[in-house]
Amino acid sequence: MKSLYQRRAVITGAASGIGAAIALAYADAGARLLLCDRDGARLALSAQACRQRGAEVFECVSDVATRAGAQAGIDACVEAFGGIDILVNNAGLLTQASCLELTQEMWDELLAVDLTSVFVASQRALPHMLAQRWGRIINIASQLGLKGGAQLSHYAAAKAGVIGFSKSLALEVSAHNVLVNVIAPGPIETPLVDGISQEWKEAKARELPLGRFGQAQEVAPSAVLLASEPGGNLFVGQTLGPNCGDVMP
Ligand SMILES: NC(=O)c1ccc[n+]([C@@H]2O[C@H](COP(=O)([O-])OP(=O)(O)OC[C@H]3O[C@@H](n4cnc5c(N)ncnc54)[C@H](O)[C@@H]3O)[C@@H](O)[C@H]2O)c1
Repeated sequence: MKSLYQRRAVITGAASGIGAAIALAYADAGARLLLCDRDGARLALSAQACRQRGAEVFECVSDVATRAGAQAGIDACVEAFGGIDILVNNAGLLTQASCLELTQEMWDELLAVDLTSVFVASQRALPHMLAQRWGRIINIASQLGLKGGAQLSHYAAAKAGVIGFSKSLALEVSAHNVLVNVIAPGPIETPLVDGISQEWKEAKARELPLGRFGQAQEVAPSAVLLASEPGGNLFVGQTLGPNCGDVMP
């Protein structure tokens, strides 16, 4: 039996990078997928790749920066599959500025996508998970939420917020067999880091104990583990760190 056989999973930010890799890994593990992203064209390609692996896939094009957009994937999953078992809050945005130069608009936009959407989507999914006494919420934070990052105070604040939110929600709902956990990746080669200079990336890679950035498909198995039974059963409010050794909490 595949480890996520027939599980109904919503994955946000599924058009690219880590979200697309989780979608493929979930397809291989037998899940039924509701893939969300604001980039409809790339989402269609990601969904097609999952269908080619035999998964049943629906797409939801929405912007999680809005309350309605963050709820849309959950509602679409309930409509398509009659419920939701797994929610992966992965959609994320990264911009850079020193705290002095950070505008209110940059702060608000990043917090809306990387933190508030996690709350809104989780709150929308919870009644379904609590009613069926089974649910897994997996939130993609970042190691920068643990260690901070220069030019990234808004991003680090959002990701630290995701970790604190997840621990708190885990305390509230784990007795109902709804398990909430976090994955906090280190530097991963995805379009998110395309804008960062090659020089910086090479210097960063040298400083990592593993000596290199990770690949999205090396993060995805952590999301399979947390959603699976029995492998994920004992993880409650944890932060897994596929981070090339950059942070050892
Ligand atoms: N790449 C890294 O080094 C790294 C490290 C730590 C954490 N992360 C986190 O992993 C997650 C995935 O990042 P990635 O590296 O795969 O990036 P990516 O840019 O490859 O993918 C992010 C996806 O999210 C979507 N998205 C962004 N804003 C959205 C919005 N408002 N509404 C809907 N969709 C939206 C994008 O369209 C894109 O498809 C993010 O939460 C990111 O913060 C990435």
